Amino acid sequence: MTGPDIRTSLPGPRARAIIERDARAVSTSYTRDYPFVMARGEGALVEDVDGNIFLDCTAGIAVAATGHSHPDVVQAIVEQSRRFLHMSGTDFYYEPQVQLGEALSAIAPMPGPHRTFFGNSGTEANEAALKLAKYHTKRHNIIAFLGSFHGRTMGSLSLTASKITQRRGFGPFVPGTYHAPYANCYRCPIGLEAKSCAAECLRFIEEQLFVHLVSADEVAAIMVEPIQGEGGYVVPPDAFLQRLRELTRMHGMLLIVDEVQSGLGRTGRMFAIEHAGVEPDVVTMAKGIASGLPLGVATARSEIMSWPPGTHASTFGGNPVACAASLATLRLLRDGLVKNAETVGTHLMTGIRGLMDKHALIGDVRGRGLMIGVELVRDRQTKERATTERDAVVREAFSRGLLLLGAGANAIRISPPLVLTTAQADTAVAILDQALGVVAGGSPRRVTA
Ligand SMILES: Cc1ncc(COP(=O)(O)O)c(C=O)c1O
Repeated sequence: MTGPDIRTSLPGPRARAIIERDARAVSTSYTRDYPFVMARGEGALVEDVDGNIFLDCTAGIAVAATGHSHPDVVQAIVEQSRRFLHMSGTDFYYEPQVQLGEALSAIAPMPGPHRTFFGNSGTEANEAALKLAKYHTKRHNIIAFLGSFHGRTMGSLSLTASKITQRRGFGPFVPGTYHAPYANCYRCPIGLEAKSCAAECLRFIEEQLFVHLVSADEVAAIMVEPIQGEGGYVVPPDAFLQRLRELTRMHGMLLIVDEVQSGLGRTGRMFAIEHAGVEPDVVTMAKGIASGLPLGVATARSEIMSWPPGTHASTFGGNPVACAASLATLRLLRDGLVKNAETVGTHLMTGIRGLMDKHALIGDVRGRGLMIGVELVRDRQTKERATTERDAVVREAFSRGLLLLGAGANAIRISPPLVLTTAQADTAVAILDQALGVVAGGSPRRVTA
């Protein structure tokens, strides 16, 4: 497959027909930013049902880590499927689940021994971590951060504090959840300069939360994304994560890092938390862990994950086919894709930063590896959020054969498969350049949803 190559108006006739059927048959709660209807994928390229080929800088929200339908992953899935599809790892034993537990222990960002709980999604991984923290510490409060996204089931949703539509209509939330400001240095929550700050925003936890709202000795855990994903691809300073570690240790709380989006090689290290040199107590993973098969896990030090039989389980969690896909994924990451994320990520980030001279709309370019956020603003001084412009750039890019997604109110998220080549990165920059030019020029092309 080569591309991008756009042959029809968008959406094409087949895509349009499917979208019409979708409107009748599928939940209206999904957000579709533009009408891409997938037919097949290969590496970082995807083809729609009308034969148009796009460069995918979304990886289906950071999931297709090894590229679409990587032959090694497909082979692992086929071979495991021929042997057996399911045998409930909560009631019986099978080797792929054990192998994956061992493989995750070998890469976990904290010293072992470790154990892993197996679920099917990011939210389930975080639910498991939450319950584990409560059970282990015998405390019931949890602290998370404003702007964070941890999932949409009630426990995780109680910690999620990203877009208000995600919470509106669903309260009351799980009692004992508190939120603190996240270290977003482009928009410092306490008005400081990043250069002269050692994560002062964390003082909110000690000087406000622990003084007025919750006793530190009743907090089970702090859950944090080492890079905020859905919140806008926000990279905190290392000091923020390091001080969080000190704080949690000092008060006997667990530090849970949600690496659902940032983990498994995307940032050029196996885990984003490694960039800060911080060792968490629990790490949660999903998305890219099995290249597209549903799998979400929580890995903890063994002494923490020692809850008795029956306390927590999942029928489908750790499905053998998903475990086989994950084992193949981990091999590919180890054998080159983590390195590629670092190399091509640096190249891509340099290319996008280069657009800042030309496009005043770009306020900030940030990220690590192939987890890159581009924040659009109407004015670099006031940092007024350019939300409609962001949406227009994403749609313009689509019409030119580049798939992007938004993150936060006004950032573009760039999270391609980790197989992206430097040539494809250059193509992405060129299309982004054109899309920004059209939007700034005020005549965006019309793409109907
Ligand atoms: C950091 C983070 N945690 C948790 C989740 C929830 O994952 P899932 O949609 O698989 O439940 C997401 C999803 O975007 C995420 O980005």
